[in-house]
Amino acid sequence: MSLLLSSGGNRADIARLYPLISRRSIPEQLEPNIKDMELLGAVSHQASKHANWWRSAVIYQVYPRSFADGNGDGMGDIKGITSRLDSLASLGIDAIWLSPFMPSPQKDAGYDVSDYTNVDPLFGTLEDFDAMITRAHGLGLKILVDLVPNHTSDQHKWFQAALNSPEGSPEREYYHFKDGNGDLPPNNWVSMFGGPAWTRITNPDGTKGQWYCHLFDSSQPDLNWENPKVQEAFEEILKFWLDRGVDGFRVDQPHAMAKAVGLPDHPYVDRAGAGFIEGEESPPMWFQDSVHNIFRRWREILDSYPGQRAMCGEAYVLPLSFMALWVRPDEFHQTFNFRYLDALWNAESIFKTVNESFEAFDSVGAPSTWVLSNHDVIRHASRLGGDYGRATASDGIGPNAPQPDLELGLRKARAATLFTLGLPGSMYLYQGEELGLPEHTTLEDKYRQDPTFFRTSGNRVGRDGCRVPLPWEAGVNQSNGFSTTGAAWLPQPEMYRNYSRDLQEGVSGSTLEMYKEALKLRSDLDLGQGSFEWVEELCDQDVLAFSNNGILVIHNFGETDIELPEGKEFISSTTDSQQHLVLPHETKWLKL
Ligand code: NOJ
Repeated sequence: MSLLLSSGGNRADIARLYPLISRRSIPEQLEPNIKDMELLGAVSHQASKHANWWRSAVIYQVYPRSFADGNGDGMGDIKGITSRLDSLASLGIDAIWLSPFMPSPQKDAGYDVSDYTNVDPLFGTLEDFDAMITRAHGLGLKILVDLVPNHTSDQHKWFQAALNSPEGSPEREYYHFKDGNGDLPPNNWVSMFGGPAWTRITNPDGTKGQWYCHLFDSSQPDLNWENPKVQEAFEEILKFWLDRGVDGFRVDQPHAMAKAVGLPDHPYVDRAGAGFIEGEESPPMWFQDSVHNIFRRWREILDSYPGQRAMCGEAYVLPLSFMALWVRPDEFHQTFNFRYLDALWNAESIFKTVNESFEAFDSVGAPSTWVLSNHDVIRHASRLGGDYGRATASDGIGPNAPQPDLELGLRKARAATLFTLGLPGSMYLYQGEELGLPEHTTLEDKYRQDPTFFRTSGNRVGRDGCRVPLPWEAGVNQSNGFSTTGAAWLPQPEMYRNYSRDLQEGVSGSTLEMYKEALKLRSDLDLGQGSFEWVEELCDQDVLAFSNNGILVIHNFGETDIELPEGKEFISSTTDSQQHLVLPHETKWLKL
């Protein structure tokens, strides 16, 4: 069935289709043509002459509610983070990205901010934050904080003022309030979490009022970035955190901030979350050109501070040649490379994706970032252990879904990580991946918190499975040391005990030690800042090999052993295989 609806489409039909069309999917045509696996078109990459830290940094994502709990209430917090910073420093990372910790009703785990310049009491105080940043800097770790500018919480004072003010008032101008079409919403946009992107308000006198736009949950109204007051307010917010010493920002959904004038219907409503398609106009809620002026202004602000403050955009923009526009020298320093996160883990797909990445980012002098897991996708130790498709198109694994092969998943995940860490650029790690932590795939529905689950009547289980609190010390209590009391806001599955950090620390061959060794080598050999070239004679449909600063990185995607040419000095590996072999789903680093 084609879900393509023209802008004149029947609105009742559109409303009926809402639950079906909200997946964040990349249309098939953006997948590489895998029949065409030739090394023709292979790109190389030269090291940048600029030595900015963010060009090569390994940045570790801390999801505050699940990292470490300092007060025993079962919710991770800032004191908990501070108490575990030593272990992050010993891992060998350069910086931490903190997911939101600002005051929030927590309808979307903090991505619904009700006050941008404070700390939610759930996580501590501003003093706790200051102590954390001082300790982090003392350990040589930089701190990036999450900024959520596309939408606020419905509890934010701006939205409350808008609700209590008449239509057409300056208060309503902070958001997108519109009249509906009779009893139907103003246009056909859908929420990324399922259902319509519009909610109708009730006036103080009980009559039905205007509709407001929310590309996510109804508790997350989208801000109107045409309004200079919104722009000025965010500039002050940036300065507030920069003055407190943060090293930069991860910016949430920047590609959604500017909307097409008049908020017209989405012509391709069946591809609600899709990227830019060559030859087609940008969807009216994504990638509007006017947004770039905002980031140029933000860049000026960051550049006016001492040290190299940096911002990374969560710009889900495809193809990468289009994403490159977001990292021109006067805009973002980095964007997440969702093309890589979404690539299927096979030689053809990774080959094309790496080529496209260097081609696109090199064209504007920006580093590529690389990422395999985050708080929105199935952890790669589970994703690669089954047929779950593209990372951002899948929504968790429920108890009734096919379960991943954990052994295969971990083997592939370790190899994917070592392959990726060999690439020049900046790497993002998601908390727990250094333990080889799998997704919680048997979480009972009664624990679920992700709005995706509720807005799709449970059809999409959502992202809770990758957000479960970390196991630190096996068996010390029910949450394996996540909190002092054993409490945890989401229960860990039994098996998490076996992945606890203390069981892996100092144990040769453990995933934790593999990460530590790889990060140290990456830094010692300056791979993040290196030059890249495919080693064509070793590549085929099951094997990818490249060189970076005199190192050969080789990965076997296939099912048979590969024999290596004689005489290469061993550096690192994801298995304990013999030196001259690369086993199925193994990555090796060797001296060229
Ligand atoms: C992207 C964040 O990563 C995700 O967790 C959140 O739900 C949406 N933006 C909405 O803010």
